[in-house]
Amino acid sequence: MRLNKLISLMNERNFDGALISPGTNLYYLTGLTVHEVGERLTLLIVNANGKYRLLAPSLYENAVRNFPVTFWRDGENPYDKLAWILAEFHLSDGRLLIEDTMHADWLINVMRLGLFEFYPLSSLVRELRMRKDRGEIEMMRHAAKAADRVFDEILSWDLVGMRERELALKIELALRELSDGISFEPIVASGKNGANPHHEPGDRRLRKGDMVILDYGAKWRGYCSDITRTIALGGPNERLVEIYEVVKEAQEKAYRAAREGILAKEVDQAARETIARAGYGEYFTHRTGHGLGLDVHEEPYIGPDGTTVLENGMTFTIEPGIYVPGLGGVRIEDDVVIHDGNGKRLTRAERELIRL
Ligand code: CO
Ligand code: CO
Repeated sequence: MRLNKLISLMNERNFDGALISPGTNLYYLTGLTVHEVGERLTLLIVNANGKYRLLAPSLYENAVRNFPVTFWRDGENPYDKLAWILAEFHLSDGRLLIEDTMHADWLINVMRLGLFEFYPLSSLVRELRMRKDRGEIEMMRHAAKAADRVFDEILSWDLVGMRERELALKIELALRELSDGISFEPIVASGKNGANPHHEPGDRRLRKGDMVILDYGAKWRGYCSDITRTIALGGPNERLVEIYEVVKEAQEKAYRAAREGILAKEVDQAARETIARAGYGEYFTHRTGHGLGLDVHEEPYIGPDGTTVLENGMTFTIEPGIYVPGLGGVRIEDDVVIHDGNGKRLTRAERELIRL
């Protein structure tokens, strides 16, 4: 279990314990698939001596097996039980790692139980999560493949006349057929809406002459994919076709730059320089990519300030874009893993401009 790796790191860095509420870190460290049940306190308590126990609502009584656990029932005060566990674990004070996404009201109640110094759990777990093992990369490959297959399906649909929100729903259903679910709500941005990188699909109907940005992803055993393709309906605006070629070149340059030992910002630079040279620098308004894994946005971030040194096993997106207000936009996004020293694409969908 990866929890033991965290416990070794805690000892190296002089942390006394950790309180981990449900989320991707808990899943990553233990494999437990407990989610928050509303406001009910659910916490994994860990100490540096290697003891750990889950405190969970009794709703989980039949779900958590082969794991040390204390249940509490509605009507009981879970913080009384937490206080006992903290005493047993010799954690009535000290340096505690706290799950970054823990509810503030849970943390406020924890603060009443002792004199602690708190630190974000992510500061340690990020080092583990950034380097994926073979099994994790296999799941990501599977999630990427599902997104590729959905792209092929989309190309067979009658898109002209369809509303953005209808297309987004169809993409979601197709993803759910082929995977465990979606990694985020699909983005469909057509025509001028394409100038907004995070456009929310609306009532606009797709029409001939549109460039359409499709950004979506699948989940497989918790791991995410994230793909963007921009397609042309009918004969698109010639300037957008020119922009497409610039984005494609920037995406390729960044992909070729991605390898073991370089800084994340060098990948960003490769894309940014290509776009700036073509005269569209001011229209590339976001970072080149983000790490991908159990969360759809995680470390390492691939931006102008990315100081992470890329290593084998790191997985991230490369997704430059150009967004021209009043005209539209183009983005191309692939998922990439550093493997045997080099960047390898997990996303295989066609990258040439497709005209339907
Ligand atoms: Co995306
Ligand atoms: Co992305």
